[in-house]
Amino acid sequence: MKITIAIDGFSSCGKSALAKALAKELGYGYVDSGAMYRAVTLYFLNTGVDLENPESVHEAMEHLEIHFENAGSGNRTFLNGEDVENEIRQMRVSEMVSPVAAISEVRRAMVKQQQKIGKKKAIVMDGRDIGTVVFPDAELKIFLTADPKIRAQRRYDELQAKGQMIEFEEVEKNLRERDHIDSTRADSPLRQAEDARVLDNSYLTPQAQLDIALEWALEAIRLKTKSPRDFAS
Ligand code: CDP
Repeated sequence: MKITIAIDGFSSCGKSALAKALAKELGYGYVDSGAMYRAVTLYFLNTGVDLENPESVHEAMEHLEIHFENAGSGNRTFLNGEDVENEIRQMRVSEMVSPVAAISEVRRAMVKQQQKIGKKKAIVMDGRDIGTVVFPDAELKIFLTADPKIRAQRRYDELQAKGQMIEFEEVEKNLRERDHIDSTRADSPLRQAEDARVLDNSYLTPQAQLDIALEWALEAIRLKTKSPRDFAS
């Protein structure tokens, strides 16, 4: 039985890692919706799009194509045929992505593509509006949270490991600003769906959080598999 799993939450609380691991366990597809907003942002940066100018935004949206390819090392993000997986994780993209993701025309295009990818179910998608806007009928919605200091430390360690020289305070400031913009924007703000299950992973190992999410997923699959007669009894 195939279900849709939506994972939402604040910046850098490990949504992608959990989504990826969960998809692997279930044999499902995995989509990092944030990577799509990051790719749009990279295109806007490279082509000098004026965010305040709707025509400039519209023109750019007509000229970009984003897709994912599954390489041996996992999902990679492509922008107009070019692998941009590493580039979109850079700080210059992180600094611009939330204002770009607040633009309705950008959201409309990304949500449409995300819904198309998820049509056949058997998918785990992570982001900010997956359980509220993209897949409001998802059988399992997880709202992931973690202590802001711990989130900043994790992202700092991740960037250091990639050789990006950056101050801890800068990382922390970026997360704070993105959280603020993402949860206060007019279009599809980040919020917990009413039927989402909350998972605070501040003090959980990756395996421990996967165990919990997997249990929830199997429960949701079992529930969906039950015939109407089972409910009547
Ligand atoms: O991995 P990290 O938590 O840093 O963020 P991400 O998932 O890569 O998302 C980058 C940015 O894209 C977020 O800060 C949001 O501004 C935006 N985003 C969004 O608006 N809607 C989504 N479904 C996913 C991401």
